[in-house]
Amino acid sequence: MFELIFSNIHSTTKNLVWVGTKIDQLPSEIDDKDKNIINKELNRSNNVVVFNRSTHLEIIVILEPSDKEEIRKVGSKVSKIVQDENLSELILQCNDEVLIYFYEFVEGLFLNSYRFNQYKSLKTENEVKYLLQVSDKYEAYFIELYHLVKSVFWARDLVNRAPSDLYSSIFVQEILNLFEGIAINIEILEKKQIESMKMGGLLGVNKGSSTPPYFVILHHNDDQALNTKPFIFVGKGITFDTGGISLKPAKNMHEMKSDMAGGAVVASLMYALAINHIPVNAIGLIPITDNMPGPNSLLPGDIITMMDGRTVEVVNTDAEGRLILADALCLAQKYAPTLVISIATLTGAAHKALGHYVIAGMQSKASAFFERLEKIGMDTYERIVEFPLWEEYFNPIKSDIADIKNAGNEYAGAITAGKFLEFFSDFPFIHLDIAGPAYITKHWGYWPQGGTGVGVRLLYNYLKSLLDLPEFNEIITQNEN
Ligand code: BES
Ligand code: MN
Ligand code: ZN
Repeated sequence: MFELIFSNIHSTTKNLVWVGTKIDQLPSEIDDKDKNIINKELNRSNNVVVFNRSTHLEIIVILEPSDKEEIRKVGSKVSKIVQDENLSELILQCNDEVLIYFYEFVEGLFLNSYRFNQYKSLKTENEVKYLLQVSDKYEAYFIELYHLVKSVFWARDLVNRAPSDLYSSIFVQEILNLFEGIAINIEILEKKQIESMKMGGLLGVNKGSSTPPYFVILHHNDDQALNTKPFIFVGKGITFDTGGISLKPAKNMHEMKSDMAGGAVVASLMYALAINHIPVNAIGLIPITDNMPGPNSLLPGDIITMMDGRTVEVVNTDAEGRLILADALCLAQKYAPTLVISIATLTGAAHKALGHYVIAGMQSKASAFFERLEKIGMDTYERIVEFPLWEEYFNPIKSDIADIKNAGNEYAGAITAGKFLEFFSDFPFIHLDIAGPAYITKHWGYWPQGGTGVGVRLLYNYLKSLLDLPEFNEIITQNEN
């Protein structure tokens, strides 16, 4: 992780990034000759110009007012220079006119500075120190951003971890480490409690495992919370998905170490909410296990009983995510939530339909909530496309011998999974299938190869935007009556 320091030192020998809108506001070190160079580059539509001084680099960035994502991309481009030049310290400066875009610039710069070198024997990269020069009244925004980026990095790290280094109890320990010293309520349910709560989905999936299941409950109920009935976030925490007895093919199976991405996002989100004191009552629910084949595994054809007493015919043990999420949704019900959002690498079908760059979103009794989420998706560029949960899509998961079955046919797999979850929800519900964007095989923009942390910025900014809404109180009270 990089360091963020607020400093107003003036130095003519330290690496510097200067961000402005106009060439005539450039710092005095830039002479006319340099200005000509900058102008030439601007004419070739290059707005990032690097001057190599004997002691340091000066990176001049001329920003035009444009869309937030464009600005993040410029920040991300500068981050690439920082990395290529292996800089260890750098002053970030902007002129007042660009303050409104400077946030996105710094966001792109930070998000693209992620490195995962835990398993490299040679660690060659620097931990960069950013010396940010903004007036005192803006410092809080950048501290908040730093925390948010830190939480995104945490989610990426956990996805990237080798699966044998992140079995259930280690995942739990990592969550406890993350929240050390932070005011939040954490409950860790162990196997005995999970049994007494009759979470048949989580216990069923865990049957083939050599490690116990866990269920993590994170509750951030801020002193100033604007809602009483909580927002609940449910994250899939499958530390590795072999498919179980319905074993997956070998090709790309290693990517199934990302099957706990949703769970990591929920923990990261709760961390960002708690550390930044967001005035909200929010709960994170994370069921955790791996999905392994073995002599004790759940079998195709088995019938399991979920937490709410309803039965599921397991026709495919590889449709395990929905089984552990269904128990979490049953538990969510007990908190009388305002809205429940599940986030999960749930189906290959979502991945196939949309590729790597979009989240498949579904909603039930939450169309107004969803509309706003789509908008924040565009703003944060963690974009969502809506799949319908029309009633016909329930047909493939009707069971002859139990209340429902856990897999349908080869069509619309992302939606039938959504319908399965909806069956266990009796509240405004949004489901986000991140099977595509949670893990990518090639660096893209400010997303690194591997875990992307997709969902953290989306959900964090979503909650903040709901809290800012004048209609928010209305939405909430409507829901509470
Ligand atoms: N974790 C997988 C979904 C997945 C696939 C995520 C590819 C990321 C990339 C999930 O548990 C799964 O195996 N789903 C099955 C469901 C099917 C058996 C109904 C699938 O999509 O094939
Ligand atoms: Mn699976
Ligand atoms: Zn899975």
